[in-house]
Amino acid sequence: RPRVLSGIQPTADSFHLGNYLGAVRNWVALQDSHDAFYCVVDLHAITAGHEPKVLRQRTRVSAAQLLAIGIDPERSTLFVQSQVPEHPQLAWVLNCITGFGEASRMTQFKDKSAKQGAERASVGLFTYPVLQAADILLYQADAVPVGEDQRQHLELTRDLAQRFNTTFGKTFAMPEPYIIKDTAKITDLQDPTAKMSKSASSPNGLIELLEEPARIAKKIRSAVTDTGREIVYDPETKPGVSNLLTIYSALTGRSIDDLVLAYAGKGYGDLKKDLAEVVVEVIRPIQERTRMYLEDPAQLDKLLAIGAEKARAVSSATLRRVYDRIGFLAPA
Ligand code: TYM
Repeated sequence: RPRVLSGIQPTADSFHLGNYLGAVRNWVALQDSHDAFYCVVDLHAITAGHEPKVLRQRTRVSAAQLLAIGIDPERSTLFVQSQVPEHPQLAWVLNCITGFGEASRMTQFKDKSAKQGAERASVGLFTYPVLQAADILLYQADAVPVGEDQRQHLELTRDLAQRFNTTFGKTFAMPEPYIIKDTAKITDLQDPTAKMSKSASSPNGLIELLEEPARIAKKIRSAVTDTGREIVYDPETKPGVSNLLTIYSALTGRSIDDLVLAYAGKGYGDLKKDLAEVVVEVIRPIQERTRMYLEDPAQLDKLLAIGAEKARAVSSATLRRVYDRIGFLAPA
């Protein structure tokens, strides 16, 4: 069976609708056809400053949400990145074949370091995409389900795999991005030309899976829509309404054409009211199940420890091969 790997950062109190529709929902679907590895990337989460207690809690909440959304630890390997030491070990090797200029061209680094100020941005933030490449290459992943914002990191990953393979001998599988176009970029409800993101300018632009249903409904009702009053799908001229239609379609399985037809002659208010109900209906059971998994953190930790052990069985074999190819002495 082909392999998939993906990861999500525990940098917020909740996943948002962009994470869910752009990535995690697809992870669930891929479990049927693929040998799946999914990780909560806590090593990545310390690249821009954090608080230890908050990180520990968010790591558990992230894992609980993944379980609640439908990641099945029997069929998939669900683990926490820091519990698998091969990730930073391979990242170091890859750091040594990554060009400084190459890493400097990563747009996420440029954006984030510009926000923090070049002096304050950490070296960890700079090499973040190399650690991400290690995550993927350790598992010989064939496909990586992510949103559009990760495309450049996947290109770097492929470049590094290729470079290592030609320099030291074929070691890594070549991973393909798995990006579902329709939902690859869910946009901010208040600024529909920007992607929905936890660093959004206004909390009203962001729908969190774990926030109160009444608040979610309110945010959708106050989403920025476009001039005119017709409900049509055109991301260029009507980014606000188009984003709402994208979310609606993704959550119900109804085609955009079908929705446009159904709302002909109705107003933005009708669309928003119905969409709010749709979103809340999807989110409510996720919230309930997340709460259930968090009720027993010891059990959750145990499940993650088993996942880490399963992950290590694969990652340690890859790392052993890498160390050998590089010319390190075999351990006694
Ligand atoms: P992160 O934690 O920022 O986001 C997790 C996933 O959610 C997707 N996503 C979106 N998709 C559609 N619309 C949006 N508005 C939106 N916002 C976020 C992201 O594309 C991502 O798939 N660097 C990664 C984490 C990572 C990783 C990996 C991913 C670390 N190692 C290895 C894949 C493979 C990140 O920051 O994702």
